[in-house]
Amino acid sequence: MTADVTWLDVWTPQEGADRVRALFAGRFEAEPEGTWSAPGRVNLIGEHTDYNGGLCLPIALPHRTYAALRRRDDDIVRLVSAQEPAGLRTVDLADVAPGTVDGWVGYVVGVAWALRQAGHAVSGFDVAIDSCVPYGAGLSSSAALEASTAVALDAVFALGLAASDEGRATLAALCVRAENEIAGAPTGGMDQAASLRSQDGHALLLDCLDGSVRHVPFDLAAHDLALLVVDTRAEHALVDGQYAARRASCEAAAARLGVGTLREVSDDPRGLEWALDKLDDEVQVRRVRHVVNEIDRVTWFVALLDAGEVGLVGTLMNASHASLRDDYEVSCRELDLVVDTARAAGAVGARMTGGGFGGSAIALVAADEVDRVAQTVADAFAEQGLRAPAFLVATAAGPAA
Ligand code: GLA
Repeated sequence: MTADVTWLDVWTPQEGADRVRALFAGRFEAEPEGTWSAPGRVNLIGEHTDYNGGLCLPIALPHRTYAALRRRDDDIVRLVSAQEPAGLRTVDLADVAPGTVDGWVGYVVGVAWALRQAGHAVSGFDVAIDSCVPYGAGLSSSAALEASTAVALDAVFALGLAASDEGRATLAALCVRAENEIAGAPTGGMDQAASLRSQDGHALLLDCLDGSVRHVPFDLAAHDLALLVVDTRAEHALVDGQYAARRASCEAAAARLGVGTLREVSDDPRGLEWALDKLDDEVQVRRVRHVVNEIDRVTWFVALLDAGEVGLVGTLMNASHASLRDDYEVSCRELDLVVDTARAAGAVGARMTGGGFGGSAIALVAADEVDRVAQTVADAFAEQGLRAPAFLVATAAGPAA
């Protein structure tokens, strides 16, 4: 069987800006003050570590969400999105509070709300949104929406935060507040940091304990390798509840161990065994084992990149996937199928990326094998009667601007 292989579109920055400017002008009968954009991300390794004060290693994608925006003198926000056929939405910023705004609009007005909560002088605005970050693919379309809004508001209200990494860390934290409190998703901070603080050609080593970052050169082409991203297009129910449950389980384990975050276990000279011996809950044992081992894998992964041994990171990717599947229990049939098929087809390593329960997996493959591996994965999905997956090749791109 030879299935069709669907490649996801990516726009040039000019295309994205033109599209969103035209959408704005058509809808609001005025020119925007400017256009801004922010990337989605894939995480190379370090999964479900961010809310445990751990390490993670995302790259920003060339796929970006674009925003055209214009200030208003009142507190009204008018929003239109090319991805949302429902048309124009209107929200009064004075009414925004946890639980008051539904859907995609919450990510945008949530950022304005968070900026105001932090004392920044932000009023209403008109905004048009368009995006080539695939939606629901676990590639952080929500963080891209938040971050594009954040840099747009930063510019039109002259906040000056986007000009420095410190200011960008502040914007990222406010985007997390928007997501946690207004959009109602209890996620950690990896996606927002990836979107706002990455550098072109580099992976972002993010230490979620103190928010510090290191930019690690990441140029796969120089090693004749490529990163194939497979959006499984799998839809899974109860995702939010499962994510919150994982987080709660880690917090309960940390409390039982008398530590602030599980990062302290990974830094503790007594080692993982000491912590596991102290836990009597079998589920918590597995969750903690994943988190602590995964933080270690990030350190090893970066050490291999630093040593120019990119071809050796595959073992760490494979181990990360096994741990997410067996100990953390956030994989699913489709993610496992991508990983197993890609590896059998010769991938150097493969793993799920992002929160799990559907979404995307990544495979590190020889540059001239990308098409063959993608075809093999597409065929495997077709043979099992699964919805056709979609593919892209990821390179490390630049941050929100
Ligand atoms: C989602 C969340 C992130 C992170 C990952 C898992 O992408 O938004 O904060 O927890 O899952 O690593």
